[in-house]
Amino acid sequence: MADKPTKGLADVVAASTALSDIDGQAGRLFYRGYDIHDLAGRTSFEETAHLLQHGTLPDREQLTDYGAELVRGRDLGRLVQDNLAEIATTMKPMEALRTLVSLAAADDPDKDSNEPEANRRKAARLTAQQPTLVARYQAARTGTEIPDPDPDLSIAANFLLQITGRTPSDRAVEIFDEALVLHADHTMNASTFAARVCAATLSDMHSAIVAAIGTLKGPLHGGANEQVMLTLESIDPSGVAQTVRDKLAAGEKIMGFGHRVYKTEDPRATHLRKMSRELGEASGDDTYYRMSKEMEEVVFAEKGLYPNVDFFAATVYHYLGIPTDLFTPVFSVSRMAGWTAHVIEQHADNRLIRPDSEYIGERDQKWIPIDER
Ligand code: ACO
Repeated sequence: MADKPTKGLADVVAASTALSDIDGQAGRLFYRGYDIHDLAGRTSFEETAHLLQHGTLPDREQLTDYGAELVRGRDLGRLVQDNLAEIATTMKPMEALRTLVSLAAADDPDKDSNEPEANRRKAARLTAQQPTLVARYQAARTGTEIPDPDPDLSIAANFLLQITGRTPSDRAVEIFDEALVLHADHTMNASTFAARVCAATLSDMHSAIVAAIGTLKGPLHGGANEQVMLTLESIDPSGVAQTVRDKLAAGEKIMGFGHRVYKTEDPRATHLRKMSRELGEASGDDTYYRMSKEMEEVVFAEKGLYPNVDFFAATVYHYLGIPTDLFTPVFSVSRMAGWTAHVIEQHADNRLIRPDSEYIGERDQKWIPIDER
């Protein structure tokens, strides 16, 4: 008989990884040994993706080569192009992305290979395509034309340009780029675990990413950032404290708070809080930032819970002009760097992931023919 399971696999070590590490007690996060506080605001998303997928922070030449690979890789395949308009008008954003990434596999020249070099090429293409997919989805569902990505701009700059239709300020690009870096990887979170389980059957990278996108979609995981914004929009700014207390008293969870691993402040929230404040003040109306601060104080006073990455990310994306229902897709844009790196890592040293279960059903049942039941 199996041992009693830890509900939700809490504290179970499910894989070895050299990609990221969390100290939940101290509130620290590392990508390949680099403290997130050293990377955030100083390292671009492209450098971070290279770090995760190739193992090192790139030098100038490596970054130029990797940047060129991303530019080449962002073309969407024929199946995606042919079906995008219909998908965008019939499916919600995360459903659409799940489907579009699956379609993109058909046109990927490396789709049938799990070899390290093929996997790295696919990782670059998927990382390059994801922001384009989100932007093209938005354009298709709203019936608007968007500018083509500019090969001289970063992923962050191109994304803001395509989503808002305006040339973003340098500071907006810096802030969004930092947000992408902060979300790029996070050990054995639910979507990464889903990707690794899929990859461990020796299925292909696109299939693993489809599993990850479906998993990120849920409101207990990546879907929380959208829920945070919807909550802020639904609350009267003068009644924040009472509304939060009422929700807690009714047993409701407050989206954007709590974390399975962090027992103190999530280090990503430290950066996102500052970014939210700066953008709120710059916008001339920082109401949502101030409401967030008040929510943070009340939830901590009532439940001792800290905000997680999704809480201040919501207002950061809002102030950057990103539509609320694209917040979780934006999460997938950044996490693509980590998911793909985990698939590369899983395939490089694979063993099928197949846990056991504790049987809690009936035993010794007596079979009865159908007409006698
Ligand atoms: N609001 C109110 N109470 C909460 C919250 C919250 N956000 N989070 C946890 N709690 C309470 C639970 O009700 C529970 O209380 P109880 O012991 O009295 O029943 C206790 O804290 C433990 O909660 P669990 O859900 O068991 O904690 P777990 O580690 O399983 O869950 C999770 C972590 C899913 C993140 C949880 O905190 C949550 O649901 N938060 C809201 C959703 C959210 O923000 N998700 C994004 C997480 S970050 C990410 O995925 C990118």
